[in-house]
Amino acid sequence: MSKSEVDAGDSVHPGKPVIVDRYTVAARINHWITAVSLVLLALSGLALFTPALYFLTGLFGGGQLTRIIHPWIGVVLFLSFMGLFFRFFRLNLWERTDSVWMSRMRDVLANEENKLPEVGKYNAGQKMVFWSMSLFILVLITSGVVIWDQYFGNYFTIEQKRIAVLIHSATAIVAICVWIVHVYAAIWVRGTIGAMTRGKVTGGWAWRHHRRWLKDLVTGKN
Ligand code: HEM
Repeated sequence: MSKSEVDAGDSVHPGKPVIVDRYTVAARINHWITAVSLVLLALSGLALFTPALYFLTGLFGGGQLTRIIHPWIGVVLFLSFMGLFFRFFRLNLWERTDSVWMSRMRDVLANEENKLPEVGKYNAGQKMVFWSMSLFILVLITSGVVIWDQYFGNYFTIEQKRIAVLIHSATAIVAICVWIVHVYAAIWVRGTIGAMTRGKVTGGWAWRHHRRWLKDLVTGKN
């Protein structure tokens, strides 16, 4: 028997249209702290990455302040993502049907979701965002500590710091790309943004995109 797709706080409200609670207030605040800190980190990090983008330091009060603030925002992102991780990891565990979903990307992009296995609370694409971000944020905080000279300068050799800078920047670029895909998908699948702004989606949205989740909710499987 497959696991229940229902999360704490999920519930269905009959009506016209049917409304389904998808995220609690706490989960939404947690997500938006993560989102804002990632955007600020990307802007301040890109400002330090290349002289061509140095002008972005103006947003943070100049070069010195950007250098001081950037690692602290990183700590905020790390802690807040840990919150998301423990909230969401259970329903992001990979299942056999996720591999089938991925292998039929053509149907996903053609909006032919009826031809695909029924999806639980998260589809395979969302799960990939979740796990890749988990890995990237771990790599970013670890490599970030190695190059945080103010506090950890004496603990690492110059050679180690050079390697860490390379890993840190390369991972940041890939994480920014994953973030762009995440936001694009949230906009592309109409009705999804409401999940993170109001915590709610319509029954039609849930039936179309996350049918197994809706069925588990309605049948009380939890
Ligand atoms: C401004 C930027 C962002 C927007 C507009 C956005 C939008 C959304 C939306 C609409 C959802 C709900 C999707 C659904 O329930 O089907 C969601 C879920 C989620 N978001 Fe974001 N997001 C943003 C930034 C981020 C960042 C920076 C991260 C992590 C580094 C992140 C991680 C997640 C996770 C883990 C979920 C739960 C879905 C899953 O587990 O795959 N988001 N986001």
